Amino acid sequence: MSSHKKILVTGASGLLGRLVVSELEQAGQTAIRAGRKPPANAAGMASWLKLDLKTGDGLEDCVSGIATIIHCASSTGPFDPEVDVSGTKALLAAARSAGVSHMIHVSIVGIDRVPYQYYKIKLQAEEVVRASGIPFTILRATQFHEFAEFLLARLTRLPLVFLPGGIKIQPVETRAVAKRLVEIAGAEPTNGIREIGGPDVWELRALVKTWLGAHQKRRLLLPMPGLVLGRLARPLRSGGLTTSVQSELSLNWEEHLSGSAAG
Ligand SMILES: NC(=O)c1ccc[n+]([C@@H]2O[C@H](COP(=O)([O-])OP(=O)(O)OC[C@H]3O[C@@H](n4cnc5c(N)ncnc54)[C@H](OP(=O)(O)O)[C@@H]3O)[C@@H](O)[C@H]2O)c1
Repeated sequence: MSSHKKILVTGASGLLGRLVVSELEQAGQTAIRAGRKPPANAAGMASWLKLDLKTGDGLEDCVSGIATIIHCASSTGPFDPEVDVSGTKALLAAARSAGVSHMIHVSIVGIDRVPYQYYKIKLQAEEVVRASGIPFTILRATQFHEFAEFLLARLTRLPLVFLPGGIKIQPVETRAVAKRLVEIAGAEPTNGIREIGGPDVWELRALVKTWLGAHQKRRLLLPMPGLVLGRLARPLRSGGLTTSVQSELSLNWEEHLSGSAAG
C-alpha cells in the first residue's frame, strides 16, 4: 500500500471506525478521522475533521486530497436514511468532485435476505455506492462481538428468557473487520461485494448460554413461538445472517467472552 495515500475514515468515533483508525496507524497509513463531535484529544489533532452526513456540514473539506474513503458512519440508532442514504449520496458526490479513487463501504451480511428496517436502509446505501461512478468495494460483515453482547444483555434482562429456536448467528471480532478493511484499502477496488464473518456459526440458544455462563448469570430459557418473529423467522433460521467467509483473523466467540467477562 502506498504510504502517502490519505485515507478518510467516516464514523471514526464508532465501534468499528476507532479500530480502523488504529489499524491504519499501525500500518503506517495517514488516517483522517471524520465525525460530528471532536474526540476528547482533538485539540491540535491535524487528523480530525468535522462531518455531519445529515446536514452536509464539512463534506468538501473532508474529501479534499483524499484517495480512499473507509465509510464506517451510519445512524445505528435511531435508524435514519437521511444519514445512511442521502448522506452517503452527498459524500459520494463530493468525493467524485475531489477525485477520490476508492470508496470502501461497510455493510452487513444478509441485508438482502432479512426483512428488517435498518437492513432496507443499508441496501439502499449500497445501491447509492454502486451507482456513484466511483470505484468501490463493499464489505458486508456479520454481527460484531460487542454488538452481539449488547443484544444478549438486553435479551436476558429478566429471569425468564423466551428464545425462538433455530436462529443462526456468526459473531465476528470487530478488529478483524477493521483489519480486512485496511487490507481492502491497499488493494484495487473490486466494484463488488466482499463478505466477512466470524469463525463459527452459533444457534442463538447456545450463544445465550455461553454468554450467561461467562457473566455468571442464571436465567430460565423458554421457547418462543416462531410466530412472534413474523417474517424474520424463516431467514434468521435458514442462516440469512451468516456467510461461508469465516475470518481466520477473528477471535472466536468464546475467546472474546473470556476477555470481555474478565475485563
Ligand atoms: N455493529 C455491528 O454488529 C455491525 C455488523 C456489521 C456491519 N456493521 C456496520 O458497520 C458500520 C459501523 O458500525 P458501528 O457498530 O461501528 O456503529 P457505531 O458504533 O454506532 O458508529 C457509528 C458512527 O457513525 C457516526 N455517525 C452517526 N450519524 C452521523 C452523522 N449524521 N454524520 C456523521 N457521522 C455520523 C457516529 O458518530 P457520532 O459520534 O457523531 O455519533 C459513529 O462514529 C455501520 O455501517 C454498520 O451498519 C455493524
